[in-house]
Amino acid sequence: PLAAPPQIKRGERRQPREGGADVVGDQRERFLRAYDRLRDELLDDDSCELTDEARRWVAQMIDYNVPGGKLNRGLSVVDSYLLLKQGSEVAEDEFFLACVLGWCVEWFQACALLLDDIMDDSHTRRDQICWYRRPEVGLHGINDGIVLKCHIARLIKKYFREKPYYIDICELWNEIALQTSLGQMLDLISTHNVANDVAKYNIEVYRRIVKYKTSYYSFYLPVACALLLYGAKLENFSGLRDDDYLDCFADPNTIGKKNYGKKDSTSVSKVKNTYSTLDLKDIFSEFEDRAYKHLVTSIEAQNDRAVQEILKSFLKKIHRRKK
Ligand code: FPP
Ligand code: MG
Repeated sequence: PLAAPPQIKRGERRQPREGGADVVGDQRERFLRAYDRLRDELLDDDSCELTDEARRWVAQMIDYNVPGGKLNRGLSVVDSYLLLKQGSEVAEDEFFLACVLGWCVEWFQACALLLDDIMDDSHTRRDQICWYRRPEVGLHGINDGIVLKCHIARLIKKYFREKPYYIDICELWNEIALQTSLGQMLDLISTHNVANDVAKYNIEVYRRIVKYKTSYYSFYLPVACALLLYGAKLENFSGLRDDDYLDCFADPNTIGKKNYGKKDSTSVSKVKNTYSTLDLKDIFSEFEDRAYKHLVTSIEAQNDRAVQEILKSFLKKIHRRKK
């Protein structure tokens, strides 16, 4: 049987890392308070007769995995929603609903990273040891990932079941889950292929992986959530999915992390030396500037002014981003 994790008192959540979207201090605080409420509600959920030990496990698992990131994605839902409302009064309950969807994005990311760390055999995540590496967790962490994923549906059902856009929200999350998991699969397959033949890795392979496993849930999902909450129809914003917005994540460091399928330090330094011989930093910097200008032009071609603002605020967050 699993050793019970040490008891975590309510409200003892991990502090998020520095960063965060363009949400001012007070809104960030409100967003963080929403976490405490959602976490406690999930623990009190009567969908299963959880024992005290199991409740402690879930509490600790959520606290360990969900709130410790920069919260950029979650805060982007709030940020985007406020931009859509263009300064008009946002009632407390509407703000809270934006926080619920924002936290669902953070839950989704926590689930993806928890599982990805197992698949990648990683050691640390967000400045702490990976959840599955804790002695009492191990591969049982797979089930924890599934629990996190199920929490999202639970929260969405609780808060949006009566809304006219409930089906749209459910479909959106299903679609993003499929795209992210298929993106992860493309990555896993390519890592395997590249270990045999490095020529199989090229920019198209890379772009496809990044687009599906990262961009849809990181960029499209927060904006799409805000639009649905605002009452918009996603089909009127089909341009939002364009690769142009998504591909700007093409940072060679991300390719570098994979070390072309080899993890040992000699292989890693060989790849890093090649980057430096090729002057990749400067080349990337020029590429980034070109991409930035191209994106600004595409964004300004969007019909809706508020959507333009949202996309520009996203671009600001990722342009010249260091981590
Ligand atoms: C990190 O990539 C991994 C992801 C961004 C996505 C992983 C996706 C899954 C495990 C599928 C999840 C499915 C659902 C439904 C939630 P990385 O290994 O390149 O980055 P890292 O260095 O941060 O680990
Ligand atoms: Mg990984």
